[in-house]
Amino acid sequence: MRSPWAHQSFFSSRRGLPLNGVLLCIVSVLLLIAIFRSPSSRSLDSAVSSPASEAYRSYRRLREEAASNFMEIRSLSLGMSRTGELDLCGKERENYVPCYNVSANQLSGFRNGEEFDRHCEVAGVGPRCLVRSPKDYKIPLRWPAGRDVIWSGNVKITNNQFLSSGSMTKRLMLLEENQIAFQSEDGTNIDGVKYYSRQIAEMIGLGSDAEFLQAGVSTVLDIGCGFGSFGAHLFSLNLMTICIAAYEIFGSPVQLALERGLPAMIGSFISRQLPYPSLSFDMVHCAQCGIIWDQKDGAFLIEVDRVLKPGGYFVLTSPTSKPQASSLNAKNRIMFTPIEEFTGKICWSLLAQQEETFVWQKTADVNCYASRKQGGIPLCKDENDETYYQPLLSCISGTTSNRWVPVQNRSHRPFDSQLSSDELAVHGVYPEDFLEDSRVWSSALKNYWSLLTPLIFSDHPKRPGDEDPLPPFNMIRNVMDMNAHYGGLNAAFLEARKSVWVMNVVPIRTSDTLPLILNRGFAGVLHDWCEPFPTYPRTYDMLHAMGLLSHLLDLKECDISSLFLEMDRILRPEGWVVLCDKVQVIEKARYLATQNRWEARVIELQNDNDQRLLVCQKPFLKK
Ligand SMILES: *[C@@H]1O[C@H](CO)[C@@H](O)[C@H](O)[C@H]1NC(C)=O
Ligand SMILES: *[C@@H]1O[C@H](CO)[C@@H](O)[C@H](O)[C@H]1NC(C)=O
Repeated sequence: MRSPWAHQSFFSSRRGLPLNGVLLCIVSVLLLIAIFRSPSSRSLDSAVSSPASEAYRSYRRLREEAASNFMEIRSLSLGMSRTGELDLCGKERENYVPCYNVSANQLSGFRNGEEFDRHCEVAGVGPRCLVRSPKDYKIPLRWPAGRDVIWSGNVKITNNQFLSSGSMTKRLMLLEENQIAFQSEDGTNIDGVKYYSRQIAEMIGLGSDAEFLQAGVSTVLDIGCGFGSFGAHLFSLNLMTICIAAYEIFGSPVQLALERGLPAMIGSFISRQLPYPSLSFDMVHCAQCGIIWDQKDGAFLIEVDRVLKPGGYFVLTSPTSKPQASSLNAKNRIMFTPIEEFTGKICWSLLAQQEETFVWQKTADVNCYASRKQGGIPLCKDENDETYYQPLLSCISGTTSNRWVPVQNRSHRPFDSQLSSDELAVHGVYPEDFLEDSRVWSSALKNYWSLLTPLIFSDHPKRPGDEDPLPPFNMIRNVMDMNAHYGGLNAAFLEARKSVWVMNVVPIRTSDTLPLILNRGFAGVLHDWCEPFPTYPRTYDMLHAMGLLSHLLDLKECDISSLFLEMDRILRPEGWVVLCDKVQVIEKARYLATQNRWEARVIELQNDNDQRLLVCQKPFLKK
């Protein structure tokens, strides 16, 4: 007996499907039928193709009906053993991040720091189990309270790390019982970050850091990023800061920043490029970020140059870069001089230096490079815009790109969902397509938002006609759009004033819209969904994917059940998954969701019989 969905790529389990699993599948089919056949289940407004949003007139009725059917079926199925559902992994995998196994990397011969890089090819296939939460895990506080206070049981950190005063941006951390408090930005005494940000603005020649946006600085790549406080401050000024840092088992800046609700991902460029296209960021920032910039013949500086937009800024704060009067010995100078020399070769000019902080500006003039024939770094030939963990370059990128537009030339409207037609033209996008996309997404978001209620699974009695309260605007914070296209979902969230930020993931081998997304002032990254995502477990509150599953199934290159395991890993307990795809694909997804023990329901879309929505919630499993 085979499951109705039996399909090679979904049943890689060596044991085959046990009988109980089959029963469970049948139960799920019954539920699907119950939903689709239900007489009152008039279909819903399409989240995809129909802009009109009278969406949920009949939705509530459908939902209640489905709920009662589901409860019945579920109580039947509860009697069975839970075979078919995946087990939790052991405690040792609580903080499991695939692709960063240093000892395995060393065994494979990676040296000179490369063992700390991402090496998915080395990792092999782990056990098929669900990453469990730590014993004292607690659901994070909502934004903005969660920005300043996190549960210490949620992050992997040692007590020693609090006591040792870290870099400037790490100093703001204090420990209270089971909470970690980051000094409020309003505090009058410890105000390092605010002061620092203003200092940088002044070094660029601005009156204050409130003028960053007017000066064309809206997206910042913060390398190392302490615990994200600089980014948190810039966020309050409507700048988007993405924190990247190398993988660390204890006290990872990335894990802490994400726990605070700040954009971050694991990223390092020891031997390979960052997963961003050239000309992506307006500013790159490193405060004591641990990189020795003059190593590898300047390859790290070339990588920074690659991701910087023309006219963009590189801010470096480092005690070793400061030529101190008392210790103006050879050592300190030699640490710094090669950087100064090198920045000349790549057409960066030193704007200012104050104390330990240096600000360089990348040239906005393509012709600058030609004038540096003597010892200058050559321009790259045959450039490929899709940069996915390629080896570091020794040449200058982006000079022939349409996107060579100085940051100072852009008209900046903070977090605006619209771009000017000139800007769209640079990305090869028609204004009509872009507008239509925005329209569709603001309507789709309204639908999604009303679906993010666990009512269907609760036994809380409902009276017909009850208006369900909508989820509060800050119910979720860290959102990942796994197939972001133009970043339309992100724009819709902002337009609807939900307090979220979105990691806009552009899958490789789709059209490369990441430069446009970053240009909108959003966070984004390239990613191959056949591989794990570079983040810690339990770091996202919601995952969204439209059309991603059918895209991956068409490619036939990876195992979708592994993707579902990965989604479970990065989703925090009680977090949401919203998938929109073709009917058959959603059926498969539903089965995999059940394996992951997610609560899942299928929603029909009006005007689109070929598409379904699957809304899932990850339960908070204690054992
Ligand atoms: C890391 O690699 C080592 C050596 O291959 C292996 O023994 C260990 O189980 C791996 N750790 C994880 C968490 O996968
Ligand atoms: C940027 O602006 C300057 C001054 O307005 C103009 O001369 C230049 O052509 C612009 N560059 C681009 C690439 O749009």
